[in-house]
Amino acid sequence: MKIAILRERVGDEPRVAATPETVAKLLGLGAEVSVEAGAGEHSRISDAAYAEAGATMAGSAAEALKGAEVIFTVRRPRAADLDGAGTGALVIGMMDPFGHEDDIAALAGAGLSTFAMEFMPRITRAQVMDVLSSQANLAGYQAVIDAAAQYERALPMMMTAAGTVRAAKVFVMGAGVAGLQAIATARRLGAAVSATDVRAVAGEQVESLGAKFIMTEALKDASGTGGYARELTDAEKASQAELVAGHIAKQDIVITTALIPGRPAPQLVTRAMVESMAPGSVIVDLAAERGGNVELTAPGEVIVHNDVTIIGTLNLPGKIAATASQLYAKNLLAFFETMVDKENKALAVNWEDQLVTATLLTRDGAVVHPNLVDAAPAAAKAPAAPEAASKDGDA
Ligand SMILES: NC(=O)c1ccc[n+]([C@@H]2O[C@H](COP(=O)([O-])OP(=O)(O)OC[C@H]3O[C@@H](n4cnc5c(N)ncnc54)[C@H](O)[C@@H]3O)[C@@H](O)[C@H]2O)c1
Repeated sequence: MKIAILRERVGDEPRVAATPETVAKLLGLGAEVSVEAGAGEHSRISDAAYAEAGATMAGSAAEALKGAEVIFTVRRPRAADLDGAGTGALVIGMMDPFGHEDDIAALAGAGLSTFAMEFMPRITRAQVMDVLSSQANLAGYQAVIDAAAQYERALPMMMTAAGTVRAAKVFVMGAGVAGLQAIATARRLGAAVSATDVRAVAGEQVESLGAKFIMTEALKDASGTGGYARELTDAEKASQAELVAGHIAKQDIVITTALIPGRPAPQLVTRAMVESMAPGSVIVDLAAERGGNVELTAPGEVIVHNDVTIIGTLNLPGKIAATASQLYAKNLLAFFETMVDKENKALAVNWEDQLVTATLLTRDGAVVHPNLVDAAPAAAKAPAAPEAASKDGDA
């Protein structure tokens, strides 16, 4: 089993898909790991550290890929960048497939078996493989660090001989994985923290972290399936907006993290709400990648409106790449372990396994994931099952 770890080539991605720790574990599974020189550079992992862990260092991507049966990646690679990999090689990483169907079709066309880690089911067995959680947790932390760096005042209350400094007020909108870590981080820095969510169950979690939970009377619970939120009705949205408008005007820092699966991020903070905040306030919009929770967010940019800074930085986990890579690499390792016959030290993918069927996007030249098959260009679609074809009268 040859595994290739390449330098990331898409979108200035600083993370890397393996660390010396995971390389050592992969060798223990019987794999040979070939790392392209410089792959860990932006995650503070030197080539020497990989080599010491037992990796074979490759001078180029082509050398690392030659005959590789498995490729670990952070971002979706371009099919052309994987030329030279073994036929049917497994490509495992965050594939971000929606809206990029042509790229997925190209990976299928190259004969690669592609797995999207972000589709990992949220079941107990797969918790250790949950890249959304491992990275969102760090994004929540980094959001507070970035806000604190931008906020030109201290966060904790300080009683000094020269006077008392009041604690900064931090409001976290969306108390999922990222939001809960943002709350915990802001609390550690001594801020007075409040939070809101549309899932009632989040209330207890917020309060257990020592923050105040805020929710409208009208909105009892908007929990959807799988622990996620559902979209609010118009009446619920209006009631939430009224509550937020009153609260946000008194906040110094707002961190927004609200997401709804398969939908653009809900807009929670309007221009008027931003304009109600005191000069020097800071907003970090963690939903920027999905359009943003704040009306004024410019994804990828930091803007100042009415003396309020709105941070729309993308890829916050990438700002703490060394830690993010450490956790991400562990997520990949855990998934890969389920694909190995440990006795015979050989690749043995169980194509029926729930973890595989949930994440597999392409195989044998076709796009196979049910959520993508309809969107795939015709040439890349898996052939329809005979029954389905005859029902359509195509047989
Ligand atoms: N393996 C597992 O079982 C597992 C793993 C990770 C997370 N979880 C759970 O899944 C849940 C969702 O976590 P997530 O971080 O992936 O969620 P997410 O990233 O989809 O959304 C972030 C948060 O935004 C909230 N939200 C959505 N619309 C909102 C609105 N209009 N106003 C305010 N908040 C809004 C959501 O309820 C959620 O808490 C959490 O309860 C988490 O504990 C379970």
